[in-house]
Amino acid sequence: MKVVHTIEELRDQLRGQLRAAFVPTMGNLHDAHLSLMRMARQHGDPVVASIFVNRLQFGPNEDFDRYPRTLQEDIEKLERARDVYVLFAPNESEMYPEPQSYRIQPPADLGGILEGEFRPGFFDGVSTVVLKLFSCVQPSVAVFGKKDYQQLMVVRNMCRQFQLPVRILAHETVRDADGLALSSRNRYLSPAERAEAPQLYAALQSVQAKIKSGLTDLAEIEGTAAQELARRGWQVDYIALRRQLDLHMPSDGQIKQGEPLVVLAAAKLGKTRLIDNLEI
Ligand code: PAJ
Repeated sequence: MKVVHTIEELRDQLRGQLRAAFVPTMGNLHDAHLSLMRMARQHGDPVVASIFVNRLQFGPNEDFDRYPRTLQEDIEKLERARDVYVLFAPNESEMYPEPQSYRIQPPADLGGILEGEFRPGFFDGVSTVVLKLFSCVQPSVAVFGKKDYQQLMVVRNMCRQFQLPVRILAHETVRDADGLALSSRNRYLSPAERAEAPQLYAALQSVQAKIKSGLTDLAEIEGTAAQELARRGWQVDYIALRRQLDLHMPSDGQIKQGEPLVVLAAAKLGKTRLIDNLEI
């Protein structure tokens, strides 16, 4: 695997490549990231990964400074897995040599809801860096995880609306055996919190079970799940049942038979904020 830190070196490595498959990450790689890279390999060649902790997508009181940076270990994991041909690991001045005053702003009815409501500017930061990374790598496909469901949708819609020649592929959420979705932030959890953490997924499953059993009162279903988590000590930002199509609420707050839904949740355990979702 070639490790490059500058855009110039990256372009040298990728010159003439028209089928590159790209997996952007912020590093501290875990098995889900590696699985995305395996998937990339089935859809293009060469596989390019990036590791860049993107300041633009962190709020002023978020964990940018303490976000785990483990480049050496990440490189070793990638070398062992042998799926990635070029790793692009730029530093901040390479990606942002001047203040990033041009930015992508997703529409408010997608970028401003759910995660966007609780993390203002988050999807502007994500879209902007993803566009920049795409312009550096010029991939023909890029793989994103469903774990970050709204992010996947924001990126897809950005590509569609700007007619970017990049096909966006979705990878299923990778979970630990107890249901907890893998995340770099899981390492912040204390042992007691780690034991509690799978309850977030359990809450999503209970929502799914209610829908499947025929219940249709959205507010009641969401409210019960949120209260149960709160009772267990979680600080719930949202549990929301939405249409897969656009993440809007099903019309009239009532669920129509056969309409593809997704339940999305974000909640804090102690200081650690976890997100998850489940398609229904
Ligand atoms: P990061 O959190 O490192 O995630 C990189 C990719 O891995 C994303 O597409 C994310 O959805 C996927 N991923 C993480 N955990 C996953 C899991 N348990 N199952 C499936 N996929 C998972 O997401 C980002 O970085 C950044 O926002 C980025 C897109 C790189 C822009 O900075």
